[in-house]
Amino acid sequence: MARISSNTVLRKKVSKELVRRVKRVVNNAYAPYSGISVGAALYCANGHIYTGSNIENSSYSLTICAERVALFKAISEGERDFLLLLLYSPQIDSILPCGACLQVFSECAPEIIIVTMSKKSEFRFYPLQTLLSKPFKVNK
Ligand code: THU
Repeated sequence: MARISSNTVLRKKVSKELVRRVKRVVNNAYAPYSGISVGAALYCANGHIYTGSNIENSSYSLTICAERVALFKAISEGERDFLLLLLYSPQIDSILPCGACLQVFSECAPEIIIVTMSKKSEFRFYPLQTLLSKPFKVNK
């Protein structure tokens, strides 16, 4: 699959499947503390899709966001080339990733495009750099 040369093509070819997957996975969220369920669907350059939901913990800071679950699942399966991440929450319209997730994406998926979805199914596309322009980096 070509890189993001044409968002239009990607929207047509991918969004229905990504939307289906993100709406399914959000039902698996474990969010008894916040009551906010989040789903993420990650679209890889080879066409594979990985999904994730948020998983909370009574020791609150151990909670993990949906985006990182999806990304870590993909990385641990050997994926390295990521195109799009669709994020969805029934409680927060057009939810955007938190700063911690942006930092992780800046290292593992720097070229990714984050896609938000509103209740009316309006999509917005954000290249990662527009959400986190100066990520923390360690000079090697
Ligand atoms: N959450 C995500 O899953 N992704 C985000 O980018 C923002 C926050 C989750 C974490 C927590 O379980 C709940 O939403 C409320 O913060």
